[in-house]
Amino acid sequence: MSALFTPLQLRDLTLANRIMVAPMCQYSAVNGEATDWHFTHINSLALSGAALFCIEATHVEAVGRITPGCLGLWNDATEAALKPIIASVRRHSRIAVAMQLAHAGRKGSSHRPWDGGQQIPLAEGGWQTEGPSALPHKAGELAPLALDAAGLGRIRDAFASAAKRAERLGLDALELHCAHGYLLHQFLSPFANQRSDHYGGSLQNRLRFPLEVFETVREVFPQSKPVGVKVSATDWVEGGWDLAQTIEFAKALKQRGVDWVDASSGGVSPLQKIPLSPGYQVPFAEALKREAGVTTIAVGLITEPNQAEEIVASGKADMVALARGMLYDPRWGWHAAAELGGQVEAPRQYWRSQPSTQKELFGRTTFGAR
Ligand SMILES: Cc1cc2nc3c(=O)[nH]c(=O)nc-3n(C[C@H](O)[C@H](O)[C@H](O)COP(=O)(O)O)c2cc1C
Repeated sequence: MSALFTPLQLRDLTLANRIMVAPMCQYSAVNGEATDWHFTHINSLALSGAALFCIEATHVEAVGRITPGCLGLWNDATEAALKPIIASVRRHSRIAVAMQLAHAGRKGSSHRPWDGGQQIPLAEGGWQTEGPSALPHKAGELAPLALDAAGLGRIRDAFASAAKRAERLGLDALELHCAHGYLLHQFLSPFANQRSDHYGGSLQNRLRFPLEVFETVREVFPQSKPVGVKVSATDWVEGGWDLAQTIEFAKALKQRGVDWVDASSGGVSPLQKIPLSPGYQVPFAEALKREAGVTTIAVGLITEPNQAEEIVASGKADMVALARGMLYDPRWGWHAAAELGGQVEAPRQYWRSQPSTQKELFGRTTFGAR
């Protein structure tokens, strides 16, 4: 019996297995609106065999986009663009669909990765970013404006409004992006947050804005549906945000009803030194589960079915998320099920692909011809 292929209950949402397609920016939106690329990408990975697909970082206001091609959910047009895509997923797959709500803060106004990923100057179509403090991400970059009380209120409202739109789109869950050096992580990390008001300084103060946003989103999204959080468990720089502080953050989130914590790392400082190896972030998920008692998702260089099985079976994390591995093998969940003796759902159009040695891979299927 495979642990990876056992169901997981999150509020009223039953996930068929423990695999999530991690959120992945596609840099292919126009004015924040999803395009035919999103249709292809999302529908393709909806057939991956994962139980949960998380839509990429979806920005709650235009100024909060990482790049001009980032996806948004801030007006009727951005909401309408996602509608046919979600409708198509629902017609062809029973995968649960979550959305990651995000704000880039000082890391906004960047070129797409394939255009170099650097800051876009104002004179070349960039925009003035905002952050906790007027500190640039990298030396020599245009600094963000420090958010005042009105700005913080505007951003909280933008998260609430996006969460309501996500509910109108019929999404099953939300994930709040508090990782990778974007706005909510910027509030957590002393490298980006040097405020002297009650949003900066002590750990309690640095947690305040991300917790306020979490509470706001949790309040407007239906109680029957889960809301998780993705964190960077460390900045990988001495003196920065670290695992001990992440554990305190996870405890505070747990008190407020968080349904999962997705444990990633890094992104706030160009000085980071990340010791990459298979499953290198799994110990963070394990520590958060043990110390804060939260449901966790492990992510980062998880590529092999047996590796994923071991993470879940040993209780190091409740779920695994795959990003690059899913792009490389968009039927990763099927192949993992075949290897581990699990079952996945496949659309009937594809039933005939079931290997002759795996007669129950897609459950009970029948097909014939005259
Ligand atoms: C193309 C691409 C886009 C990504 N976009 C996001 C994103 O929108 N939000 C996020 O939290 N992480 C994003 N990530 C990070 C992944 O979700 C994941 O945490 C990271 O890639 C490690 O997992 P992996 O080794 O399975 O790729 C992205 C990664 C890739 C490869």
